[in-house]
Amino acid sequence: MTAPARAAETDQMILRGGRPLMGEVALKGAKNALPKIMVAALLTEERCILRNVAGIVDVTIVSDLIAALGGEVSSPEPGVLEITTANLHPMQRSVLKEFSGKSRIPILTCGPMLARFGESPVPSLGGCQIGTRPVDFHLRALQDMGAELHDATGNAHLTCERLHGNKIKLDYPSVGATEQVILAAVRAEGVTELSNAAMEPEIMDLIMVLQKMGAIISVDVDRVITIVGVKRMRGYDHTTIPDRLEAASWASAAIATNGRIFVRHARQEHMMTFLNRYRQIGGDFRVSDDGIEFWRAGEKLKSTALETDVHPGFTTDYQQPFVIALTQAQGVSIVHETVYEQRFGYVEALNSMGAQIQLYRECLGGLKCRFGQRNYKHSAVIVGPTPLRGAEIHIPDLRAGFSYVIAALVAEGVSTLHNTALIERGYENLVPKLRALGAEILD
Ligand code: EPZ
Repeated sequence: MTAPARAAETDQMILRGGRPLMGEVALKGAKNALPKIMVAALLTEERCILRNVAGIVDVTIVSDLIAALGGEVSSPEPGVLEITTANLHPMQRSVLKEFSGKSRIPILTCGPMLARFGESPVPSLGGCQIGTRPVDFHLRALQDMGAELHDATGNAHLTCERLHGNKIKLDYPSVGATEQVILAAVRAEGVTELSNAAMEPEIMDLIMVLQKMGAIISVDVDRVITIVGVKRMRGYDHTTIPDRLEAASWASAAIATNGRIFVRHARQEHMMTFLNRYRQIGGDFRVSDDGIEFWRAGEKLKSTALETDVHPGFTTDYQQPFVIALTQAQGVSIVHETVYEQRFGYVEALNSMGAQIQLYRECLGGLKCRFGQRNYKHSAVIVGPTPLRGAEIHIPDLRAGFSYVIAALVAEGVSTLHNTALIERGYENLVPKLRALGAEILD
């Protein structure tokens, strides 16, 4: 797999703002689906073909990890990956160390590696710094399925002859923990009933792949997923769903800059909650078979009060780009972030550009939240509209990075964004896409 041009950590982008974004961008496969479907290839020795693959860092990380485990990963044509893991060997701690800290995906290899080898080291994880992001739900679920956890502090590892099915209830509908259980249960002995599961479109895409491979999985009402373990899994040929999170990012950019963007391949059924909110603040959109066009309905945007939530709620990954649009809305908006405890870290830099955003420890919303009274500033009040001016900004995480790009495009004057490599974790070809939309990027 030819790695996308890995920008150096000190990579930067210089943008002159004040112009609307106009034109078209095309989505590729979802960043939060592709790497997990690649991990599913560890469950079989047969050839797996994955299509609509985006050239993003998270895909490269998992390609390199599978290759380091003895798997073969090739790209017979652009956007297509071929994965064969017939010659897989057990995960060595040294291999894991190389990948730990880069991404959260390696933790999902535990189930397949236990199925193949009866053992798996537990990786320490990377990913965006938006909270503590523990893996206690993952480990507890694997132990509920019979895995034994050794040395839980230092070099933790799991052992198990063969995982067995169980009734597992997640404390919180965690996306990663849901994927962990599904990837472990498909080859376990007996039936696993997972309740309080996450139901994101990316998880449904993973379930489709596993069903193609021979798994028996049902998704019932009330967040219950039932998996009947099978002895053998076949290869797959799968086209990944488009990236709804990238679609929402461009939609937010369209109304924040008062432009008009057609996002090719965006699908209404994946982003209905977002579209409702979008319309409520004065955005408008037209759905067609091959995508969705986004623009401002009138001259002014309207403030709103919203809470992030697990799917089908307003996804936490929509939040940061959407807040930039709220800085341009008339009046006072409130955002209660209920999924991550520290996902407003990016606000300080926005205020230095002229935004008026105040953070609060209180839960400013009706949703039951795990962070109330725990001293996390996880609610924001945004006063708008505020003119933004260019600034020099260091990017802390992926979605905040994209929101800074939007803020720089809204701002009068020039902004310099540092560490733009973080944005490339999830947005393929960002600079060419921005240029195609008329953004003025100064080399
Ligand atoms: C996935 O992260 C996504 N990443 C995130 O997208 C997304 O924001 C998140 O799901 C929620 O939708 C990928 O799919 C690669 P979680 P994940 O487990 O699985 C707590 C982006 O920008 N938790 O649903 O790591 C956790 O701390 C990224 O694309 C535990 O307490 O998220 C968080 O507060 C950012 N213990 C909450 O659950 C655990 O064992 C949700 O986390 C696991 C999670």
